[in-house]
Amino acid sequence: MATPWAEAESHEQFFVLLTGANSGVGLGIGQRIIDEFLASRSLSSHLILIPTTRSVSKSRDTVLALRTHLQETASTSTQLQSRGGSGYDPQSAASRVHILSIQVDLCNLRSIYDAAKQLVHGKVSDPTGLISDVKIPRLDAALFNAGIGGWSGLDWFGFAKQFFQVGLVQSCTFPAFKKALPAAVIDQRKLLGDSAADLKIQPPELAEVFTANVFGHYVLAHELLPLLSRSRSDELVGRVIWTSTIDASHEHLSFSDFQARHGNPPYESSKRITDLIGLTANLPGVQKASAPYFASPAAADKPIKPRFYVTHPGVVCTPLFPLPWILFWGYYAAMYVARWLGSPWHPVEPYLGACATAWLALADQQTLDHLRADRVKWGTSATRTGHVAPKKSEVDGWGWDGDVTTPGEKEHENEVGVLQKSSGRKWDAQELTKEKRVEFEDDGRKCWEELERLRTAWENALGEGDAAK
Ligand SMILES: NC(=O)c1ccc[n+]([C@@H]2O[C@H](COP(=O)([O-])OP(=O)(O)OC[C@H]3O[C@@H](n4cnc5c(N)ncnc54)[C@H](OP(=O)(O)O)[C@@H]3O)[C@@H](O)[C@H]2O)c1
Repeated sequence: MATPWAEAESHEQFFVLLTGANSGVGLGIGQRIIDEFLASRSLSSHLILIPTTRSVSKSRDTVLALRTHLQETASTSTQLQSRGGSGYDPQSAASRVHILSIQVDLCNLRSIYDAAKQLVHGKVSDPTGLISDVKIPRLDAALFNAGIGGWSGLDWFGFAKQFFQVGLVQSCTFPAFKKALPAAVIDQRKLLGDSAADLKIQPPELAEVFTANVFGHYVLAHELLPLLSRSRSDELVGRVIWTSTIDASHEHLSFSDFQARHGNPPYESSKRITDLIGLTANLPGVQKASAPYFASPAAADKPIKPRFYVTHPGVVCTPLFPLPWILFWGYYAAMYVARWLGSPWHPVEPYLGACATAWLALADQQTLDHLRADRVKWGTSATRTGHVAPKKSEVDGWGWDGDVTTPGEKEHENEVGVLQKSSGRKWDAQELTKEKRVEFEDDGRKCWEELERLRTAWENALGEGDAAK
């Protein structure tokens, strides 16, 4: 059966994969991609959105939730109505968006390989039964949003201390009082499924937060290279958009404890690795380490590899941080107070926090190239009234874009309001130096080397990925 978008030309079809789409920021990203796609793309273009979840029932609920949102946008958006003119038909707007879904558990490597095989070689359906058995020809954007926190609660004494030292806004943006759980190693049976006992080679252990937040996505993107790579330079380059956090400092990652099993907070450590691999993939000092990853035999006929981008949603109230409901509402109120006090990093609501990711997914390539967007960690900023926009975030050891310039030159940039670089800086942020910039690139290389070592070891143990080619 022909798909509803079969008549559209290839460049009018836009395929997006979104992980962790059933909750929080992920659901917000799905909703925002729908709205911005309809508002900005041509009236003959089609969006094929593939949210991933961890179960068929979550996939079904997510597709239904996104479809309800789609219908609401199509019938109430004044922007769409003025675009469509007097003959505007909400149904014809809604008919340009198609939602399918697959399941993947990023802490189960078999599930990652299975999901990738389904996307690359198999067929994908909508769990509510509207569309079945679709072959996906390519992915224009893979949005890696899924993640876990790995905290047990708050250190109230630490909160009081930080509050009196640096104030509410800084404490609500860069909290040093979250109690991190020791990083659990994932049971091999979960990583491997039923075949755990049959392995001849014992693969390295993997910690849960590290695997959910970085390594699972790292393996998934590698397996999806046939859909994300291109054979011709006139085709739209595939984008892999990694989700980080504003607070992923240098001190959170230790190369002697890469998966943060023995000391560092696992969440912040995993996000520091995300920043390092996302921002350094193409740097001269890293290319040798990253080249084998992009040179997958499965995508050998497609020399143009996807671009990596890094984003974060700012601070958003979601189930990521485990809080009893009464504390959750206190936390929610404190985040709004931080925004009213002038914090640029408090969108608070998932739909608003989704702004930077949706922008990176949909912006035209010329704009991204002009901004050298792959050298920047793009966060969602919000004004007091909740107007959101993508904003450059400062990265420890990289600055705003890896350029070592003097503070005087930085002031000449023409951003205003919350978009100014001075707005939302961490209280102890330091100017970038040449030495730190060199160290950042070198740390990027070390991350790539370690991730490649783990990927290769797991592929060899499982007979999957490049080892199966
Ligand atoms: N909230 C914030 O303020 C904030 C700030 C900075 C960055 N972020 C980042 O934003 C992303 C989304 O977080 P959120 O706040 O929206 O949290 P959330 O509401 O808890 O959503 C997390 C999503 O990830 C999925 N997930 C967790 N473990 C997974 C696994 N092993 N395999 C596949 N999917 C898995 C969850 O699925 P289940 O429902 O099945 O568990 C859920 O869909 C994360 O990467 C987070 O680090 C959030």
